[in-house]
Amino acid sequence: MLRCPLLLLALSLMGTGVYAQTRTAPPPQPKIGQAGKDVVWVPTPDVLVEKMLDLAMVTAQDYLIDLGSGDGRTVIAAAKRGTRAHGIEYNRDMVALSRQAAATQRLSDRATFAEADLFRSDFSDATVLTLFLLPEINMQLRPKILALKPGTRVVSNTFTMQDWEPDESVTVADCQVYCTAHFWIVPAQVEGTWRFAGGEFSLTQQFQRIRGALLSGANSAPITNARLRGDQIAFTAAGVRYSGRVDGDTMQGTLSSQESLGSWRATRTSR
Ligand SMILES: C[S@@+](CC[C@H](N)C(=O)[O-])C[C@H]1O[C@@H](n2cnc3c(N)ncnc32)[C@H](O)[C@@H]1O
Repeated sequence: MLRCPLLLLALSLMGTGVYAQTRTAPPPQPKIGQAGKDVVWVPTPDVLVEKMLDLAMVTAQDYLIDLGSGDGRTVIAAAKRGTRAHGIEYNRDMVALSRQAAATQRLSDRATFAEADLFRSDFSDATVLTLFLLPEINMQLRPKILALKPGTRVVSNTFTMQDWEPDESVTVADCQVYCTAHFWIVPAQVEGTWRFAGGEFSLTQQFQRIRGALLSGANSAPITNARLRGDQIAFTAAGVRYSGRVDGDTMQGTLSSQESLGSWRATRTSR
């Protein structure tokens, strides 16, 4: 026995119940309104969590990151849909609670959590970003969010991004407080002058809204019915509908008019 003092200690602790207690001691239960680093903890109602995931159209191919993940409910709900999901949460006990909930539901492989400050964390891998923070924190994060890969989907419980208007907002029924989800798709950066076989077009951009004109020789035609959704662009100019995909300083796709159908490719000559 003396050759195994650790075993002896463990056996005696098990006998007193101390070992069992430390091994299984649950993390403390959170209280709504408890302090967080920059935001208190208030959970998103489950009905809105599901709506946020619906709005973001999450699939098993996505990687969702919840900034300030609280008790882990959004991450776990996404993992239940087959999505790989990750929560970034400053409060150690909330991280422990989230990991325990994921383990209990056998989701630990898809639902992971980091104990970290969201302002010091890299979330650039996310294809879907979820938030329930505060208006001013959304605004601090906005430049970083706008620099994410075009097409990244962002959903915020209740709080907006000011003049970056949501692509869609939905309020759910059967919900008492914090019942509205706002949804954005990170737009490609398309502002500038673009040259293509038919001439040049110039675009100005405010988030997902674009305006501009087509210049062909001495002629100029306004761009109408313009639409930018992630990296997908479409607009009409001089009776031709252009649809395509933006990739950095190149965009290309198909064009159609009453007389013709074809393809186009443009490169940016100035920003
Ligand atoms: C309003 S709660 C939202 C919780 C969860 N996302 C949800 O929707 O149920 C905000 C969470 O952010 C956490 N938090 C606050 N400041 C943070 C920071 N700088 N880094 C990481 N987490 C933070 C808080 O501890 C809290 O759990």
